Amino acid sequence: MAKSLLVAMAMAMMALHASFVAAVPGTASFSTPSGLPSACFGPVDPGVFLAAASGEIWNNGSACGRRYMVTCTGPANAGETNPCKGTSVNVTIVDYCPACQATFDLSLDAFAVIADPNAGRINIEYTQV
Ligand SMILES: *[C@@H]1O[C@H](CO)[C@@H](O)[C@H](O)[C@H]1NC(C)=O
Ligand SMILES: *[C@@H]1O[C@H](CO)[C@@H](O)[C@H](O)[C@H]1NC(C)=O
Repeated sequence: MAKSLLVAMAMAMMALHASFVAAVPGTASFSTPSGLPSACFGPVDPGVFLAAASGEIWNNGSACGRRYMVTCTGPANAGETNPCKGTSVNVTIVDYCPACQATFDLSLDAFAVIADPNAGRINIEYTQV
């Protein structure tokens, strides 16, 4: 087999693999204020671009301090038809949100980077970074 074909196949497989690890679909809401003390860092102010995780991500606190890159992919509520700003934001997990109807409950600052807050809830893709 020609070497260039092998290289092309290897690159195609890497691209396939990359698309597997790339992004997981989910939803995001937001809340304000972002709620101190946080479950992860107590009274320490953890910054601006934050998220509370729902159960599957939270995993009994092992998600604390993890960072996720979150991208808006569309509206999750009726009303706002085009809330996405076409940007991504990196957020740090600081809290647990067992009652959230979303994968992540973002700080308003983080939500506003990627979408119009009037949308309330959005569909997202996320990747741990
Ligand atoms: C959850 O974490 C706490 C504190 O680290 C620990 O005591 C508890 O056993 C953990 N629970 C489970 C189900 O892993
Ligand atoms: C998020 O963090 C990753 C890894 O550090 C970086 O490559 C990416 O550019 C960051 N994205 C944003 C929107 O800051």
